Amino acid sequence: MTVTIVGSQLGDEGKGGIVDVYGDAVDVVVRYQGGDNAGHTVVYEGDEYKLSLVPSGAVRGKVGVLGNGCVVNPATLFEELDALADRGLSPDVRIAERAHAILPYHRVLDGLEEDVKSDDDLAAGTTGRGIGPTYEDKAGRRGIRIGDLLAPATLRDRLEYVVPQKRALVEDVYDLEIGEDVDGTAFDADDLFETYRAFGERIAAEDMAVNCGAFLNRRLEAGDEVMFEGAQGTSIDIDHGIYPYVTSSNPTAGGAAVGSGVGPTVVGGGEVIGIIKSYLSRVGTGPLPTELGSVAGQTPGAEDDGTVDGDAADEDTDLATYIRDEGGEYGTVTGRPRRVGWLDMPMLRHATNTNGFTGLAVNHLDVLAGLETVAVGHAYRLDGETLLTMPPTTERWGDCEAELRRFDGWPEAEWGAIAEAGYEALPENARAYLEYISAELDTPIYAVGVGPGREETIVVESPF
Ligand code: IMP
Repeated sequence: MTVTIVGSQLGDEGKGGIVDVYGDAVDVVVRYQGGDNAGHTVVYEGDEYKLSLVPSGAVRGKVGVLGNGCVVNPATLFEELDALADRGLSPDVRIAERAHAILPYHRVLDGLEEDVKSDDDLAAGTTGRGIGPTYEDKAGRRGIRIGDLLAPATLRDRLEYVVPQKRALVEDVYDLEIGEDVDGTAFDADDLFETYRAFGERIAAEDMAVNCGAFLNRRLEAGDEVMFEGAQGTSIDIDHGIYPYVTSSNPTAGGAAVGSGVGPTVVGGGEVIGIIKSYLSRVGTGPLPTELGSVAGQTPGAEDDGTVDGDAADEDTDLATYIRDEGGEYGTVTGRPRRVGWLDMPMLRHATNTNGFTGLAVNHLDVLAGLETVAVGHAYRLDGETLLTMPPTTERWGDCEAELRRFDGWPEAEWGAIAEAGYEALPENARAYLEYISAELDTPIYAVGVGPGREETIVVESPF
């Protein structure tokens, strides 16, 4: 069977930890979208592993697959694999031949476009990994796929077609000088050919390339348990998220089929687990109706001192700082402070509709401990009406005002002991909070995270 793990908010919900907790029963872990924009932290036997591309299950000796829906930077992939090897791990990672490769010019162009967009407040605050430009080339049918790296003549042809276009973009559109204003090797077809051909040779030598759909279907027929590990989250899905402040792929459950070559009936016949952080965090720009305080450079109108449009620093700013520090809300990949806010229920109802969750995992419940009151955005007010789910345009979403519902807080506790004792050992007020979420989304709670380690996750129900 398959289990699909999906972020139900804006990314960083703690998906890696849940993949890890359910991972024992799994044989193959598959990423179906995104690339090295996806920072995930896995704690295994007391050691912390920060990964951005290698599927987190691979740390535990599972087969990790980067599906055709991924965009793969081979330089990052080999850096991560080599770093894991230095720590005594030898993960078995396969890459779909249909996956697209990120090239150095994609990273450069990611930065250039963000700079231009920032003049109009349209920058998505990307991770700068070249994700958007690579998916653009995929859709524009000028991309270079992993399979092309294994076929030097094809690689050469593709580069000779595409590199002059990229050079023209830099020189004629951005009016910059290659080699002067931007790194020359990123736009040198010969250089790129040598580097990427060598990546191809290593992929071939280590037998990493697969026909993803065929590979997975074979494994499923043989009785293997397969987990699809979504990166990012529903509200930054290119189709269902807060466009244009989104990533360029489909983190939603449908992406698991398209991005791996396994049929939608197979994905739908398994379980789809929505991962929820007990509050909200966001890296990037755009509106956020339940935001507390602000982060300069990300919250629209934010000042350097955490205030918005000159408002005095207030209780919300203090709450934001508390949650950010307790939750370690700083980007895994970029180290940027994340914006934080209360749980947004209209966002979660939207995620439930879009993904068809069969279960929920609620993380970071411990982070809110010690607060007297915990609030959630239960609904939105928009034009005098109450909305229970997100409006389809981001501009209208920005006009929404959160209607808060307040819950009595719960105290700090011995979370490790609670996790061992099980769900009923959770403080009563924390359970009331969880039961509200489950009832509103009409979906059972499968797991509750009360700390970063595997042993600090309460498993209520196993999908396998
Ligand atoms: P990109 O994926 O680098 O193109 O960035 C596009 C948007 O998605 C930006 O707002 C990023 O902050 C956000 N984003 C990308 N990856 C992640 C992630 O793993 N967690 C949270 N936000 C992300």
